[in-house]
Amino acid sequence: MKASISTMQLCRTIAEMRTAAGALKAKNLTLGFVPTMGALHEGHLSLVRAAKERCDRVAVSIFVNPTQFGPNEDFSKYPRTFDRDRELLESEGVDLLFAPSTEEMYPPGAITYVTVEELSEKLDGKSRPGHFRGVTTVVSKLFNIIQPEVAFFGQKDAAQVAVIRRMVRDLNLPVEIAACPIVREPDGLAMSSRNRYLDANQRKTALVLSRSLARVQELFAQGERDAQNLITAGKLLFGGELDVRLDYFEIVDPETLDAISTLRDPALVAVAAFVGSTRLIDNRLLQI
Ligand code: PAJ
Repeated sequence: MKASISTMQLCRTIAEMRTAAGALKAKNLTLGFVPTMGALHEGHLSLVRAAKERCDRVAVSIFVNPTQFGPNEDFSKYPRTFDRDRELLESEGVDLLFAPSTEEMYPPGAITYVTVEELSEKLDGKSRPGHFRGVTTVVSKLFNIIQPEVAFFGQKDAAQVAVIRRMVRDLNLPVEIAACPIVREPDGLAMSSRNRYLDANQRKTALVLSRSLARVQELFAQGERDAQNLITAGKLLFGGELDVRLDYFEIVDPETLDAISTLRDPALVAVAAFVGSTRLIDNRLLQI
């Protein structure tokens, strides 16, 4: 880890965070914001670096948001590595770290939600009912508290980017959304906080996601434009895998997330699969 002179301010309450962000605004400094749930890896850090490049100051949040987890999902066992995360962010030169408690973010009696209709029921939203409602609710709260000029999201969660962009547009939120490329392990696995749930065999098996996308890309490069043919070819790779259950394999418009039948414009190939009990996602943009 890089040595650094620590000047990162940790804010545990909304009031502290508002004051700290407000002080930067008063000095006319631009504020970039990276929302996370912690268990940080190079994917998260790439967003921090993009924010550092574009903005005068950078705020990061770490909050494992209960409202975006379903009743049978991994909220309670989601990895929490706060001390290490904090060190990593400090060495990246982050200025403000917002790490509120659940009670701070959701005081008893909170009954207001932000929902992007229709879009929230596609891709991950279809398999995880209520997930995007939780994401858009917490992200709008974070935007209201921090009021950044630019917020940075990973293309790894392509549906999340589409839903957030739509929310910002529809609610006229004064923030620019910047999407950053997927960071991968050397063998192609998309980095994810959930990769640490995988045992050695599952770690190898998990490569089927990126391999299936590479196969689709290859056929696309050879001129295949029929989405169903591309999907069938991608899905075929999952047939041979024992410990894997495919959740979805779709080719959609990157903005509306609607299925595409013939590829004429840029298209998003998105896949989700359970490797053992761990749900992983990956995607690739096909450029026409
Ligand atoms: P989390 O899963 O912690 O991800 C935080 C951000 O890091 C997201 O924008 C995600 O797309 C990005 N990210 C994760 N893995 C990445 C990778 N391999 N390459 C590039 N970017 C990557 O996404 C969330 O948290 C939450 O839904 C949140 C937006 C914080 C709301 O609770």
